[in-house]
Amino acid sequence: MLRDSLPKIVTEVPGPKSQELLKVRKNNVPDGVSMLAPVFVEKAEGAMVQDVDGNIFIDFVAGIGVLNIGHTHPEVVEAVKAQCDKYFAPNINVFNYEQYPKLAEKLNQIMPIEGEKKTLLVNTGAEADENAVKLARRYTGRSEIIAFAGAFHGRSYMTMALTSKVKPYKFNFGPLPSGVHRFPFPYCYRCPYGLEKQTCGLHCAKMFEESFFLEYVAPDQVAAIILEPILGEGGFVIPPDEFVTALRNMCDKYGIVLIADEIQTGYARTGKMFACNYWAVKPDMVVSAKSVAGGIPIACVTAKAEIMNSVTAGEIGGTYCGNPLASASALKVLEIMERDHYPEKAKHIGEICMRRFYEMQQKYEIIGNVRGKGAMMALEFVKDRTTKEPAKDETKAIIQECWKNGLVILGAGVRDNNIRFLMPLVITDDQLNAGLDILDKAIAKVTQK
Ligand SMILES: Cc1ncc(COP(=O)(O)O)c(C=O)c1O
Repeated sequence: MLRDSLPKIVTEVPGPKSQELLKVRKNNVPDGVSMLAPVFVEKAEGAMVQDVDGNIFIDFVAGIGVLNIGHTHPEVVEAVKAQCDKYFAPNINVFNYEQYPKLAEKLNQIMPIEGEKKTLLVNTGAEADENAVKLARRYTGRSEIIAFAGAFHGRSYMTMALTSKVKPYKFNFGPLPSGVHRFPFPYCYRCPYGLEKQTCGLHCAKMFEESFFLEYVAPDQVAAIILEPILGEGGFVIPPDEFVTALRNMCDKYGIVLIADEIQTGYARTGKMFACNYWAVKPDMVVSAKSVAGGIPIACVTAKAEIMNSVTAGEIGGTYCGNPLASASALKVLEIMERDHYPEKAKHIGEICMRRFYEMQQKYEIIGNVRGKGAMMALEFVKDRTTKEPAKDETKAIIQECWKNGLVILGAGVRDNNIRFLMPLVITDDQLNAGLDILDKAIAKVTQK
């Protein structure tokens, strides 16, 4: 079965059938839609993907964090098929159907937010972040939002404004919506203030009161601070816990809504159901998507009930929001994740990978930084460990060398010099080690060791 197989490359990659389909794509699909591996999928199971030419790849990307449960989990497939036989899209604004409130109930139970909660279902991560901003603005009656350097929140207009990296996400798409202020992310490997974590005295958090709130925006104008608990597209950078606690304290002091964007970090990826389960404090709102429904589009905004109750009927929602196919899939995914201890699976994967990554760091000077929580890990590649000059071209070459040999991996970071790891949490140890072997060889080849 594909689910239990190891990678196998049987043609030149891309093979002849993929090459034919690439011509159809080239002529009909905008070049603006990016492409990592130039092959077409025939079928996918667990952590393995087979292309139309019979090549088998290990998937360390999982749809960019969409498939923590793995490709085509049999029970999830069953749940979606069963739903297909009943109804597709009555539209929650027209007819009620049970999947929407049941999923909301489940998410309200598990979401690390204090007190009574409510959940709004939408379709994409960007749409969820848009709604988080709408809700925070309505609830506080304020307009300004603080987002972070390195953040990624989507490609819609509001979320382009929230997103940090200029190219390719926002370049020449302006003007973008106003009211977004950017604060440096506590990226300790590349401290924006040139300090060391051991001795900095949490300088970054102090800068809010000492500078940001005086020189850029007054705190009593701020509706929300939106934070990824671990930067996703920004390179899997993990903020110090004390920084998050300082943010929470500041939000309490000034009546600011703290939004955790768990779209990439959520649903067992980090070794807990949500990355903010690691925090000593809690957010007021959690935005989630991707892995909640194992690949069927749905996104969720969960917030304190008093925030949700600040809007009235018709002010939020949309035609496909919380559609029954995706909601049925999400309910099954959450049941399986709890029953089969997915957070533990993530920890196990993290242990194996981090051991191998530190060994690789000993061997290859190009690995400047190894970081991770559970199965959300990244390697940062540098030309020189002292200057930390980003090794962008080498990172790209390593990624390409990997997919040619049957491992699909993905870059990250504003400097394009990280590789991030998001393998499905159902990956077997043999598949994991086979993938890490391909990576090891690719780094050796590119750095000629
Ligand atoms: C943290 C984060 N927020 C928002 C988004 C946007 O989600 P979508 O692509 O579903 O709009 C992403 C997507 O990668 C993400 O990682």
